[in-house]
Amino acid sequence: MKTPGRFPLDYRLPADHFTTALRSDVRSGLGTTPRTLSPKWLYDDRGSDLFEQITLLPEYYPTRSEQEILTERSQEIAELTRAGTLVELGSGSSRKTRLLLDALSVAGTLRRYEALDVSAAALEEACLAIDRDYEGIQVTGTVADLETDVPLPDGAAPRLVAFFGSTIGNFDRDQRASFFRSLAAALSPEDFLLLGADLVKEPGTLVRAYDDSAGVTAEFNKNVLRVLNRELGADFQPDAFEHLALWNEPEERIEMHLRSRLPQTAKIPALGLCLDFTRGESIRTELSCKFREETLTAELHDTGLTVRRWWTDSESRFALLLAAPQARSAAKKSDAPSVHESPGGKSR
Ligand code: AVJ
Repeated sequence: MKTPGRFPLDYRLPADHFTTALRSDVRSGLGTTPRTLSPKWLYDDRGSDLFEQITLLPEYYPTRSEQEILTERSQEIAELTRAGTLVELGSGSSRKTRLLLDALSVAGTLRRYEALDVSAAALEEACLAIDRDYEGIQVTGTVADLETDVPLPDGAAPRLVAFFGSTIGNFDRDQRASFFRSLAAALSPEDFLLLGADLVKEPGTLVRAYDDSAGVTAEFNKNVLRVLNRELGADFQPDAFEHLALWNEPEERIEMHLRSRLPQTAKIPALGLCLDFTRGESIRTELSCKFREETLTAELHDTGLTVRRWWTDSESRFALLLAAPQARSAAKKSDAPSVHESPGGKSR
C-alpha cells in the first residue's frame, strides 16, 4: 500500500453517525408495523462483498447493461460535458468510473476526481486505486450520507456528478424529490448530472434479478440481521427468515423482504426492544424502484433538472441520462408545462 492519507478524506459525518442512525432507524422501522429497514444497513464489509458477487450473477443484468451504455457513450459524455471534475456519488463502481475517467482524460478536460460514500473504508480503497492509476488527477473523498446531505466539492468546472447503479431506485418518490432538489440547488448552470436508472420491464426478469438461483441475494438480504446482531447485540436467527423478492406492480418497484418462517421473538438489548413476529410477518429491507422515461424526466423537471440525453442498452433494460440544472426562473415549476406534455402526444 502507498502512503496512507495521500489524498484528503473529508469527514462530513460525526464519528458516532453510524450507530446513532442505525439505532434510530431500527427503533422507528422495526418497532412499528409494517416493519422496514433502510437498505443502507445491508452494506457492511460482508454485505458489500455479497453485492459485488450479485453484480456477477447471470440474473443480475443492471450492472452489465449500464456498463454496456457507458462503453458506448463515455466519449460522447466527455465531449458533451467537457468536465473538469468527476464527482461520483457512491464509490463502489470502479469499472464504470474508469470508463468515464478514461474518456475525460482523452478529452483533456479532467483535473479532479471526487468520491462521496457513506463508508470510509470503501472510499479509501476506491480513491487509492484511482490515485495510483491516474497521474495528474487530484483525488479526494468525502464521507457523507446521501440520504441527508449531498456536499459537492468546489473542483474545476464544469462538474459532472455521476450516480450509477440505479441506486436512486432505493429512494421512494419523496426521498427522490428532496435528493434531486438538493442536487439542483448545488449544481452550477454549467454542471451536469449523469444518472443510471433501471427500467420497468417484464416482472419475471425483475424478480429473477433479485432472487437468483444461487441464493446470493438471499444471503445478502439476511446479512442485515447479522449487522443488527453485531451492532446492537440482537439475537436474530437469519435462517428463521426467508428471503423474498416481490414485484409491487402499482408502485413499479421490487421490494426485498425477510419473512418470518415461524412465530418468534427477537430481542434488541441496545434499544430495549423485544419484537414478536407472527409466522409470515415480514420486514421490508429494500425498495428498488424501476423507471420510465416519461415519468422520470418529469420528476427531474419538477425538481429543477432538465434531461438532455437519454441512452439505453441494446435490450432497453437500463437507462443512463444526462441532465442539467434549469435556469433559476424555469425551476419554479407548475406554470411551465412538463417537457412531455407535447402537443399531439395524447391526440385522439
Ligand atoms: C445497488 C441498490 C442498485 O437495488 O438493484 C441488488 C442493490 N439489492 N440486489 C439494486 C441490490 C438486491 C441494488 N442497488
